[in-house]
Amino acid sequence: MSPDLSISFAGISFKNPVLTASGTFGYGYELLDLVPLNKLGGIVTKTITLNPCQGNLQPRIAEVASGMLNAIGLQNVGVKVFVEECFEKLRRIGVPIIVSVAGTTKNEYIEIVKILSEQSSLSAIELNLSCPNLKKKIVCHDLSLMQNILEGVKRISQVPIIAKLSPIVTDISEISLAAQNAGADGLVLTNTYPAMAIDIKTIKTKLFIMKGGMSGACIKPMSLRCVYDVYKNVKIPIIGCGGIMTGEDAIEFMLAGATVVSVGSANLLSPMSSVKIVSEIENILVRESVKSVKEVIGFANTRG
Ligand SMILES: Cc1cc2nc3c(=O)[nH]c(=O)nc-3n(C[C@H](O)[C@H](O)[C@H](O)COP(=O)(O)O)c2cc1C
Repeated sequence: MSPDLSISFAGISFKNPVLTASGTFGYGYELLDLVPLNKLGGIVTKTITLNPCQGNLQPRIAEVASGMLNAIGLQNVGVKVFVEECFEKLRRIGVPIIVSVAGTTKNEYIEIVKILSEQSSLSAIELNLSCPNLKKKIVCHDLSLMQNILEGVKRISQVPIIAKLSPIVTDISEISLAAQNAGADGLVLTNTYPAMAIDIKTIKTKLFIMKGGMSGACIKPMSLRCVYDVYKNVKIPIIGCGGIMTGEDAIEFMLAGATVVSVGSANLLSPMSSVKIVSEIENILVRESVKSVKEVIGFANTRG
């Protein structure tokens, strides 16, 4: 008998624990002709802002050893066009849709969440509180601002609110606990790590804005450690993210305490990566005679 891959996260039912990570799969529907999107557990859109955003100047991605740097800068069409032109196409895919959002002020976060909350079939909103590629300070580095935003959006949102945090903090458990106390229904651990690269021939930085966020296989052990540490300290579920390239990586994150995972840079190597990871997880469970993926969560860890 095939193992049960279904899982519940903050009241959302996923048929398997594999989601796409924000910004690495477009809005989510563009790959319909290439990828059987209905085989995914869920789709997280790229981050949407209140107004359209051009993002940073090129070059804004660069390859590094075992990973990549990006400084996209949240290029997107803005929430109005997203709702009018993209959301219906996403809805038709038939898997839970999580929309990632960011604002430059608390009121902007609230305004976007208000607009999105009115859409039917939206499963959750992911608050990007951790973008490293903007001129402003990373939101979750200011605990009271982060809590203020979370409390504000929780007051008006009809759907679960998931807080995406930066790994570059003194104590990831403390920030996670603060997010939980402010009402977050779940966490994403983690976003990218601030980094840079220099071309020694041109003596120029490889990204136009000099620095960006590092992602891919090289960050996995660090993000895994974040999930492991936070799982012990919070009650809300965790989306594990960072360097997940294979089903084994996904299982590792779940053993550390992630309820589901989101796959990012691997999608840039092949848009089929996330779907492939679903079947790799299934094969591992069969090989290890595990009946349900739920049994894996936190198995290598203990919750306080
Ligand atoms: C090209 C690119 C664009 C990204 N854009 C976003 C974004 O819009 N919003 C966001 O929250 N994270 C964004 N991220 C971060 C990813 O969602 C993910 O947290 C990070 O890359 C770590 O996962 P990975 O190592 O599997 O890529 C982006 C990452 C990449 C590589």
